[in-house]
Amino acid sequence: MFFTTLSKASLALLVASMILVLTQKAEAHSYADCIDWRFKDPKNPSWSDKNGACFGFARRFPVKAKPFAKLDSDDPNRHYQQSHKNPDPNHSLACSDGKQGEEPGADETMGKPISSAYTGTDKRGRKVGVQTVSHPGGQLCIRWPAKNHAVKDEKNQPVTIALSEVNPTKDPTQLQFLSNIITNLNYKNCSDTNLNTDIWPCGGCFKLPTTLKPGNFVMQWRWKLNSNEWYTSCADIDVRAK
Ligand SMILES: *[C@@H]1O[C@H](CO)[C@@H](O)[C@H](O)[C@H]1NC(C)=O
Ligand SMILES: *[C@@H]1O[C@H](CO)[C@@H](O)[C@H](O)[C@H]1NC(C)=O
Repeated sequence: MFFTTLSKASLALLVASMILVLTQKAEAHSYADCIDWRFKDPKNPSWSDKNGACFGFARRFPVKAKPFAKLDSDDPNRHYQQSHKNPDPNHSLACSDGKQGEEPGADETMGKPISSAYTGTDKRGRKVGVQTVSHPGGQLCIRWPAKNHAVKDEKNQPVTIALSEVNPTKDPTQLQFLSNIITNLNYKNCSDTNLNTDIWPCGGCFKLPTTLKPGNFVMQWRWKLNSNEWYTSCADIDVRAK
């Protein structure tokens, strides 16, 4: 009798912790954590906090809210999963409005003015990160957390980086972004890999087109997971003449 109760209790505990682990995995989704990452020592580059610093962020990014990789469990969560409908993710809202989507995420719509998404605080009073400044042909290195999806047995799906026209008055549609993808980045390009596959820091570097006119450009980071899940982050790049 005692044994049955005990084993029932431990079985329940085991099942509960398994569910917790599974849901944590299921909730572990990525987002762009930094738009302008600079390595302390370019000869020895790494994406970890101790080896670099961030000089430009996605919209309304709460810089000190949580340790690296933990904003997917922020309130609201930082990752935005586009709707599977309308009629598919390629027709969904490109930058989260905090309402639409399979997982709405934080509000990453264009600020009015654009700079307002990079000054002051977010809705919860937390200081937000500064805007990215670059120039035509300028290099940007974008960082994201692996969230368990950079391990060997996961399919490697690229991150796409897309740009708007110069000085848009509203965010591009997803189809507009898809018509101007400037590069693909390797999702699994992580450094400082250790036992905790959730918090591996990863990222990719690329150069902006040399043909850009000075002005503001909306940049979309977009990552595919499984067959129909797409996650996006949006940032404005202030492109200045060199
Ligand atoms: C969405 O667009 C991407 C990139 O152009 C393409 O590979 C994919 O097949 C499209 N998905 C759907 C459901 O149309
Ligand atoms: C991969 O990451 C390293 C830092 O670990 C970086 O130096 C390199 O540029 C990245 N590769 C690409 C293709 O972005």
